[in-house]
This record gives sequence, C-alpha cells and structure tokens, in this order.
Amino acid sequence: MRLADRIDAAVEAAIRTGQGGVAPARLAAALNYAVTPGGARIRPTILLSVAMACGDDNPALADTAAAALEVIHCASLVHDDLPCFDDADIRRGKPALHRAFGEPLAVLTGDSLIVMGFQLLARTAPADRALALIDVLATRTGMPFGICAGQGWESESQIDLAAYHRAKTGALFIAATQMGAIAAGQDGAPWAELGDRIGEAFQVADDLRDALCGAEELGKPAGQDDLHGRPNAVAQLGVHGAVARFDDVLAAAISSIPACPGEAALAQMVRTYADRLVPAVARSAIPGE
Ligand code: IPE
Ligand code: IPE
Ligand code: MG
Ligand code: MG
Repeated sequence: MRLADRIDAAVEAAIRTGQGGVAPARLAAALNYAVTPGGARIRPTILLSVAMACGDDNPALADTAAAALEVIHCASLVHDDLPCFDDADIRRGKPALHRAFGEPLAVLTGDSLIVMGFQLLARTAPADRALALIDVLATRTGMPFGICAGQGWESESQIDLAAYHRAKTGALFIAATQMGAIAAGQDGAPWAELGDRIGEAFQVADDLRDALCGAEELGKPAGQDDLHGRPNAVAQLGVHGAVARFDDVLAAAISSIPACPGEAALAQMVRTYADRLVPAVARSAIPGE
C-alpha cells in the first residue's frame, strides 16, 4: 500500500474510535472535519519512512503511531486557529473548525484528538514500544519541549526564537523520527537530530511560503508573520538568505541520518519532500531582495 493510503486508513480508523454510540453528533462530525481531507501529512509520512528505513517489523504499530501523531498535529491546528490564538478563518482551504462548528466544539475537538492520540498508543502492543511511543509523543506535545511550550512563547514579552521554533514546529518532527524508529523496535534517541533539523528546515520553508504565497495557494491566511510582528527567517535573512539557510539545514539533516538498512531510500525521500516545500518563486528571487 502507498504511504499516503496507509496514513489515511490509519487516521480514519482512529477517528472511528471517537465516534458511534450515543456520542454528541456535532462533536463527532467535528472530529472528522479536523482530520479530513488531510493536509500534507508530512509528519506521519516521515514517521513511516523512518520505520521502513529501520525494517518496519510491525507495520500495524507504525500505522497506529502515525495516526496518533497526525491527530495531535490536527488538534494543534484547530486550537491554533481559535480567536484567542491566531484568529484564522481558513485552514486547509475550508472554514477553520471554529468557523464551521463554533468555539466550544473547536476547543473540545482539539482536546478529544489529543486524548485520542495517547489512547491509540495505550491500546497497542508490545507494551515496551507502546510506552516509549507515549513518552516521546507526550514530551513533544506538552511542556517544556512540546507544542504547548511553542504556543506559550507567544505570550512572553521576550521570545527565545530558537526555543520557540523548536517547540512550536520542530517538536512534532522530532516525535516523527523517534516514533518511527521506536515503532520498528529501535532506540529513538539517535533519531532526534534528524527530526530537529527537518523541523528547522520546515520552519524556514513555512516562513518563505507565508511571505511569498497567497492564501488561496496556502489554504490558510498568508502574510501572518508580518501581520503579527512574529520573528521569522525571511525578516531575518531576506528571501535569498532564507533559501540558502533552508539548503544548509537540509544537507545537515540528510547527513545526520543514523546508519540503518534503508538509509539511502530515506535520504532520497527527505530530498523529494523538501523540494516541494520551498515555493518556486523563492528560488527565482533576486539575491539580496
Ligand atoms: C502547519 O503544518 C503548522 C506549522 C507547524 C507551520 P503543515 O504545513 O504540516 O500543515 P498541514 O497538515 O499540511 O495542513
Ligand atoms: C502553528 O503555527 C503551530 C502549531 C499549531 C503548534 P503557526 O500559527 O505559525 O502555523 P499556521 O500558519 O497557522 O499553520
Ligand atoms: Mg500560531
Ligand atoms: Mg496559525
């Protein structure tokens, strides 16, 4: 099965665990709305690619880990779009969840998806891998290193930019690489650097897309970094500098891949995905602009 199909099937199976019976129908529908159609599904794609590079001896566990990670990412987007955070009206080309279902159900959708991510892992086997997966996912979701910390930096008067980006964006990429290795029975620790560097490259590309693309192309509001006065790679380095930084970090990411049976294929997958992240217009921009 193609990776994208494995991921969609696993995410859909996960959502079904939160539906049925006498559950409130609008919240059940909102769970579905939050995860389908998906975005780029980049985090579960990385997770499964690392699992495959490590031998993927337990594909069912890798699929569950991929779904757990993706539902938590989707939860973070639902909460991020709320008026108390970014007050965004569109996400993935359709009304943000709170615009479609209202704020109370958006808060509850995010909460339900976060709980679901951990419950999915709690129900997997073998227990040693399940516990390690829960630990990594919790570390990269909460405080002090996870996406909660990342969003928390936006309420500080002084932002530590590296810590902010690492927690807001990098955290779930570190979870992706480590969970891929753990699902395949390997130690997660040597895989942290790859996730960290992919996360850094992704953040630079996201800053380029935010500055250079329109809302239609992005499926979410554009120009947000400028609007909210957020520190970002384009403001710091210019377009040309940001592209150079992306290329450097990506090269470092690839050279940090730990020795494993599928090392070459994994490097190729990272290159292929990375190419799609930087908008073409950024590479044609005049140096210094
Ligand atoms: C958006 O992530 C949130 C950031 C950390 C910048 P993605 O760009 O991966 O969003 P989807 O899942 O493809 O919509
Ligand atoms: C979202 O960051 C990151 C999380 C939800 C943790 P942003 O606010 O910068 O991303 P977009 O532009 O809304 O996707
Ligand atoms: Mg935000
Ligand atoms: Mg946002």
